[in-house]
Amino acid sequence: MFVDPPQLFAQLKRAPMPSLPRRAAQAFCALILWKSPMPRSYALPEKASHAFTARMCAGSRFLESQRSDALFVDPLASKLAGPQGLAQPMGDWIMVPRTRFGDDFVLHHYMKARPCRQLVLLGAGMDARAYRLRLPELKVFEVDLPILFQEKEPLLEGETLTVQSRSVVPTDFSSGEDWSTKLQRDEHFDPTQPTVWLPEGLMMYLTDREATQTLRRIGALSAPHSALFFDAISASYVRQRIVVGGAPFLGGSDHYAEWLKEAASFGRTQVWDFNSMRVDRWNQRLSKDWARTVSPAELYGRNVVLFVESQI
Ligand SMILES: C[S@@+](CC[C@H](N)C(=O)[O-])C[C@H]1O[C@@H](n2cnc3c(N)ncnc32)[C@H](O)[C@@H]1O
Repeated sequence: MFVDPPQLFAQLKRAPMPSLPRRAAQAFCALILWKSPMPRSYALPEKASHAFTARMCAGSRFLESQRSDALFVDPLASKLAGPQGLAQPMGDWIMVPRTRFGDDFVLHHYMKARPCRQLVLLGAGMDARAYRLRLPELKVFEVDLPILFQEKEPLLEGETLTVQSRSVVPTDFSSGEDWSTKLQRDEHFDPTQPTVWLPEGLMMYLTDREATQTLRRIGALSAPHSALFFDAISASYVRQRIVVGGAPFLGGSDHYAEWLKEAASFGRTQVWDFNSMRVDRWNQRLSKDWARTVSPAELYGRNVVLFVESQI
């Protein structure tokens, strides 16, 4: 008989057994789990929760795409969200400004005199920019959990790219695996060329150590004129013990500019107070007219959602 320890462990947690035998059985399963040479992504049920948050994001992109005053249109969002993501969208309050900020950011760096023609989506989730941004010279690379791509790739079969190419790099940022080597092995990626990096909706799910390691790898592969954008939370927000779709927030900081400089050599950083960005429905754009940057001193002890943008 095949025994799946994580499933059995979860079932035992719910089973109406007397507490002593239940605890003994749980301890037995925990021992098997601990001793099994399984990859972490399989051993931890939380990874499925992380992948689920990606469906939630696509659910919100679908809702936005239905509006006549939409700030972006994602024709694949419904399919990628699936019934689960459509039933529990992440929320337009964050998904509309973040997605539009990211879109504008990619376009800006694509059009510059020293253009970025490589886009790396870290924690790509159910992002479909490779199928909706009409940037014919852009090469898109998606990095996320293996379990995520197992769900995503079959959904994309037969869809037409609107960019030059799309590659996927399955990894688990918490496993310590060097995803950057895998990325470098991809024939389309060239570390001597500028890259746009978008770890949207990712940094809060990483511990400080995992985030530092991720930033170091970004820095090591970033040619001059590379650029980075992500959303994040302030340090005190982490103590609120937020859990989204079963995945806990683990990391946040008041010192992103310093951190990016030290870990990735990205020296030109702006940390925006997310609340000062305005979704301008009338003009169908994200307005930065009243947007405010915040210093570490202003963030200290406050629960703030941040938009961080940086360049090397
Ligand atoms: C909230 S979703 C954001 C997805 C996408 N960036 C978007 O905006 O739609 C977070 C994504 O990060 C990925 N993720 C979280 N922890 C991860 C880890 N340790 N390794 C790899 N990917 C991870 C999840 O699988 C998920 O796709």
